[in-house]
Amino acid sequence: MDSKAKATLSFSDGRPSVEFPIYGGSVGPDVIDVRSLYAKTGAFTYDPGFMSTASCKSSITYIDGDQGVLQHRGYSIETLIENCDFLEVAYLILRGKLPNAAEKKEFDHTVTIHTMVHEQLARFYSGFRRDAHPMAVLCGVVGGMAAFYHDSLDINDPTHRMISEFRLIAKMPTVVAMTYKYNIGQPFMYPRNDLGYVENFMRMMFGVPCEEYRPNPVLVRALEKILILHMDHEQNASTSTVRLAGSSGANPFACIAAGIASLWGPAHGGANEAVLKMLDEIGDVSNIDRFIAKAKDPHEVQKLMGFGHRVYKNYDPRARLIQGACHDVLAELGLEDNKMFKLAMALEKVALEDEYFVKRKLFPNVDFYSGIVYKALGIPVSMFTALFALARTVGWIAQWNEMIGDADQKIGRPRQLFLGETAAKFVPLAQRR
Ligand code: ACO
Repeated sequence: MDSKAKATLSFSDGRPSVEFPIYGGSVGPDVIDVRSLYAKTGAFTYDPGFMSTASCKSSITYIDGDQGVLQHRGYSIETLIENCDFLEVAYLILRGKLPNAAEKKEFDHTVTIHTMVHEQLARFYSGFRRDAHPMAVLCGVVGGMAAFYHDSLDINDPTHRMISEFRLIAKMPTVVAMTYKYNIGQPFMYPRNDLGYVENFMRMMFGVPCEEYRPNPVLVRALEKILILHMDHEQNASTSTVRLAGSSGANPFACIAAGIASLWGPAHGGANEAVLKMLDEIGDVSNIDRFIAKAKDPHEVQKLMGFGHRVYKNYDPRARLIQGACHDVLAELGLEDNKMFKLAMALEKVALEDEYFVKRKLFPNVDFYSGIVYKALGIPVSMFTALFALARTVGWIAQWNEMIGDADQKIGRPRQLFLGETAAKFVPLAQRR
């Protein structure tokens, strides 16, 4: 990388100034390369929450938060949603280019022939309580997959990495559906390889062995769009978690399990579940004003869930596309008068006109409408974040692979501003008060 300019850091305490190179990306903000800061000055940067820190180089996903733009490998999310299926976008994100017909056929085939899980994995489930949260089960099962597939865990071997990649992408729908089936006490459904990726997932979720399940193509396509919208989103909390876990050389199943754990949080992927709980709590349009007042109150923990984003300071393009999918699903199911959808739209309108949200540039994010579609599709609230994990697995693997191939990659090891005690006087236990 050639530096396009230099930044000079000067100190008010007489220390000499130091210079750092500035690099420009193909688009987006420049970065100041501060890697030599500690060696040159003995100081660290302090940036909790990575508000101003680029943690890596990447060529996968670009977001312009001010304009509300999301691109994967140079293609707008709107173009991809309209023209591609799930595995086509997965190929793009993983391989860096759209597949031609032969490449797509081979990729789809390879994913398809890896959809079954080791039979013993089914027994792993019975160690969990039936009412366990699906994300708790998924963290365990996906992490546990390393124990079933340890023939492909050498992360320095590109073939091993590719086998693990196929296994994860192919088996995630199977293990997510198994998590649901275990929870409701129905038999696990084996995958069917004559079905597409999303159709197969729907059948494993909603089918039962005693009758034929025919997925509704409108609903399959709507779910496919939502899953594509969740596939990657550059260096978010769970992706950064996957990269950090992977930076130590951990195996891909362990890294993806770490990503699932991070995604579970309500400030991240858990927000789609929280949105539905919030809509339930609001209950009626007449309660919106009271709820909004609470969400604005700094003394209340309650936020307007599904609103706000660290990067988007404009309408999240994914929220708009999901709103479209929501219309398709509700129309197909004859639920246009769905009370929850109407409540969500009324809530969005009030918030978008409220000075508090306008001033802070808080707009609906991807989670605001996704839960309504999931609910209409018959997916229980507790499974929402599991579906997010299913889709995001593609992005996590692509980012993990990119990290491994990056010559600048080092074990992730942030430093700290230490404010603790330095000369505590030891008092034996018996004398402590
Ligand atoms: N409701 C009410 N106030 C909010 C909201 C919200 N949803 N989001 C942010 N704010 C306020 C904050 O209180 C803060 O106000 P202040 O300046 O008066 O203190 C200001 O807006 C800035 O918010 P931060 O929390 O500093 O923004 P940050 O970038 O750290 O957080 C986040 C982003 C976590 C997404 C936040 O907006 C939030 O908690 N939203 C609700 C949860 C949610 O929907 N998460 C899903 C995100 S998308 C995803 O992960 C897939």
